[in-house]
Amino acid sequence: MTVSALFSNVEACVFDAYGTLLDVNAAAERCRDDLGDSAGPLAELWRAKQLQYTWLSSLMGKHRDFYDITARGLDYAMESLGLNDAALRTKLMELYEVLDAYPEVLDMLSALKGAGMKTAILSNGTPGMLNTAVEAAGIGANLDKVISIEDAGIYKPAPSVYQLAVDQLGVAAENVCFVSSNGWDATGAAAFGFQVAWVNRAGLVQEKLDFPPKTELKDLTGLAQLVIT
Ligand code: LAC
Repeated sequence: MTVSALFSNVEACVFDAYGTLLDVNAAAERCRDDLGDSAGPLAELWRAKQLQYTWLSSLMGKHRDFYDITARGLDYAMESLGLNDAALRTKLMELYEVLDAYPEVLDMLSALKGAGMKTAILSNGTPGMLNTAVEAAGIGANLDKVISIEDAGIYKPAPSVYQLAVDQLGVAAENVCFVSSNGWDATGAAAFGFQVAWVNRAGLVQEKLDFPPKTELKDLTGLAQLVIT
């Protein structure tokens, strides 16, 4: 079987935002003068805590929005690394709102739109965070919808979150290609019934759960040719 035969009847491509379209390490990287060798560990711990707090708040039934969760994850990471600097905290949070898009994103989205594909973001981000990020990255013209989990009031991988894309795009789950760099998000989306592309930017091993992705990519460069028929 050729790789391109893996996807069938894709009518919409739905993207995770943070880590998939937007470089979540960019904020700490831009503060390397302040952070020095702590830039990498801070970015990693910040991201890990941010995600843990999304799952915890969902399981506890105590929803807090992603801006709040992101700040709390940053507080944990900074304190763990002995960084007590309010100005740096403010700077990191401001930079998190205008993360760089990965270099291949704009061309990939243009190719999908050129082929008549529906495109959307489905992200944990608040509507405000996502609108700011999409504008800063210059990708809004190539997206039909920017969907926030705030419409469901719970975080990924709750099925009700993935259902938002089905409802708001008017495309059946089996006709959606969901694209995420997060293995756990890819798993949740496949369990929901999407066709899934896992963008394994970090070179990780596959999750040891059921519901594997249909394909694994290094970045988004080859996505359009896999889903356009
Ligand atoms: C998002 C996180 C999970 O954008 O990356 O939803």
